[in-house]
Amino acid sequence: KQIGVIFGSRSCEREVAIISAVQLMRHADREKYEIIPVYISDDGNWYTGDKLTDIQAYKPFRPDQKGIIRVFPDLSSGSGALLTIRKNTGLFAREKTEIVARIDAYIIVMHGLNGEDGTLQGLMELINVPYTSTGVAGSALGMDKIMMKQFFQGAGLPVLPGLSFTRSEFSGERGAVLNKVEEELGFPVFVKPANLGSSIGVSRADDTESLADSLELAFEYDRRVLVEKGLDKPIELNCSVMGYDDIVEASPIEMPLNNDEFLDFKDKYLASGGSKGMASLHRVLPAPIEDELKNEIQEMSRTIFRMLDCKGVVRIDYMFDKHSEKLYITEINTIPGSLAFYLWENAGIPYSALIDRMINFAEK
Ligand code: DAL
Ligand code: MG
Repeated sequence: KQIGVIFGSRSCEREVAIISAVQLMRHADREKYEIIPVYISDDGNWYTGDKLTDIQAYKPFRPDQKGIIRVFPDLSSGSGALLTIRKNTGLFAREKTEIVARIDAYIIVMHGLNGEDGTLQGLMELINVPYTSTGVAGSALGMDKIMMKQFFQGAGLPVLPGLSFTRSEFSGERGAVLNKVEEELGFPVFVKPANLGSSIGVSRADDTESLADSLELAFEYDRRVLVEKGLDKPIELNCSVMGYDDIVEASPIEMPLNNDEFLDFKDKYLASGGSKGMASLHRVLPAPIEDELKNEIQEMSRTIFRMLDCKGVVRIDYMFDKHSEKLYITEINTIPGSLAFYLWENAGIPYSALIDRMINFAEK
């Protein structure tokens, strides 16, 4: 089978996706699959070439104005013909107009906007190629933190109180926005761009002054921002769910460490040995929690998976408040970092077997 592994794109989380994709390509069973990397560049061109399977092909550039170190593959000298997609799922090298590969199914390894959010899933539906992730509606809802919260709330699931604002509300009525947060949520709060992941643009505010700074920062990334009530040293707990339709399994639960401190993007991905990605994070796995809480999380995770009609592998993140002993849903990642393979490995499923299952679900 010819399996396209598609990654990159304009997302702010592209660097994380490169790590996830290279990791996945290394673990796929090459006797079963011919792996065809398909890299979408910042400017929307599609590339392929074996070189893209090698982490050495990706070079970091100096930090951009927001301090993020961007990574680009070397697209010169043979690491890829420029592609254009054509019907019948063929990929054509644009210059030579020859078919370079037919793709039986795509593994989508995109995090964030322009890939995890339903856009690429929509394209796959249009060109009628099987793909590994959740469909258009579930992906879109899972990406937008404001809509996601409203959806979970409407379903009676536990979420932290939050308020949302647009950039024009903030620039027009700054004082009113700050007051509303202070009165309705108090401090601390977490301020998050509606449509980003990997903690990009997210910060904690402890008073009105820092709230103004946090909002400024978040509005640099998005036109809509979510302000969420903060808990006092919550325990973070994450659970992956895998499957499709009536086959739905929940993984062991991980407790990422440093949970009482906010991990920013740098700590998460660059300082802690970026090339190993999410899997290199320190975590306790399985999380040292009571069976009752574990069962509650796994049950809720399966429910959410079904509600969003998910497919493949997702990860649902929670916060547990020690003081009130209450559990809150933070978010769903419909394409989690490293495809959460380490959680399934812990359940006795090697990454290569997880990839087999994902491809299987894609073709259903
Ligand atoms: N959005 C990142 C990749 C994650 O939460 O796994
Ligand atoms: Mg996320």
